[in-house]
Amino acid sequence: MRGTRLELRPGALAHNARRARALAGGARVFAMVKANGYGHGLGLAARALAHQVDGLGVALMEEAQALRHLGLAHPLLVAEGFFDADELALAARLHAEVVVHSPWQVDLLVAQPRPVGVWLKVNTGMNRLGMAPDLARAQAARLRGLKGVRLLGVMSHFACADAADDTRTASQLALARALATELRVPLSAANSAALIRYPDARADRVRPGIMLYGSSPFAWRAAADLDLRPTQRFSARLIAINPVQAGDSVGYGATWTADGPGRVGVVAVGYGDGYPRHAPNGTPVAVNGHRTRLAGRVSMDMLTVDLNGIDARVGDEVELWGDVVGADEVAAACGTISYELFCQITARPVRVINESTV
Ligand SMILES: Cc1ncc(COP(=O)(O)O)c(C=O)c1O
Repeated sequence: MRGTRLELRPGALAHNARRARALAGGARVFAMVKANGYGHGLGLAARALAHQVDGLGVALMEEAQALRHLGLAHPLLVAEGFFDADELALAARLHAEVVVHSPWQVDLLVAQPRPVGVWLKVNTGMNRLGMAPDLARAQAARLRGLKGVRLLGVMSHFACADAADDTRTASQLALARALATELRVPLSAANSAALIRYPDARADRVRPGIMLYGSSPFAWRAAADLDLRPTQRFSARLIAINPVQAGDSVGYGATWTADGPGRVGVVAVGYGDGYPRHAPNGTPVAVNGHRTRLAGRVSMDMLTVDLNGIDARVGDEVELWGDVVGADEVAAACGTISYELFCQITARPVRVINESTV
């Protein structure tokens, strides 16, 4: 057996959800489980989180449908709403709350009113999805005239709540709050970063995602400092150890060269498993619990690590991320975020569910 595995920890997911719940105060908590539970597996993530929260959030109607097929009866929020009339009908059957972000969705509802709860998405400065306040106000009036349609709240999304030099969240929140107050409906705006950082942004409903999966939303603050626990541990085994001399280079493109005699370990994991190919030389890994670094370019089935000063044998375990090396550290070395690392793990690593580690 190759031994390349992704250990998943339901207890840590539940712990992190309790952290979100504690921070939320009186606000309802909807745990975001879109994109296959941020790569952890939709069913595993949803079941581990569901008991600690008030509802679950997904991006797509088929994700909501999958949750119902898994037997989850919780309130569901579909953050991109329905894409067409069939999905609108499906939302009603699934009892899923939908986000309405554009007038064309209201047109569909006017053409065929369905008994659905709607969160009206207002653009407050993210300039991605959502309507400007005036347009949103006009669409709210149309929605309120429709039989069976319930306007549940105003929703917005922050562009920079995770940024060290954030100057935008306050004005985004003020705009969203003004509309919710005017329409006399609840407000939902906070993602993980805002939930942790801005008590005022918690409003009536929060939508944490990444913090539930044990990562920090902030580049300058480690997950452990926020009392978040790793929910996954990605590991593989050493399958060869090669001596190198000064001047020997390793791997495709010869991007790493030994500056003296040493040993390089070959690890049975690569981008075919979802480890990022663009991870540069120096990206941290841990061999037998000791930190070291990538040496050479990541290939499809293998990567290579510097074993200088490390006691290691063929068959020993290498942690790609998890307990010793944080996923956030690897992400930072790769110029990305742990969200992407988690979502990109392929079906190839063996999934092992660890019920005992929290
Ligand atoms: C609409 C919406 N709400 C909440 C979240 C959760 O954000 P985060 O994972 O940063 O907490 C997301 C994720 O991107 C989202 O798209």
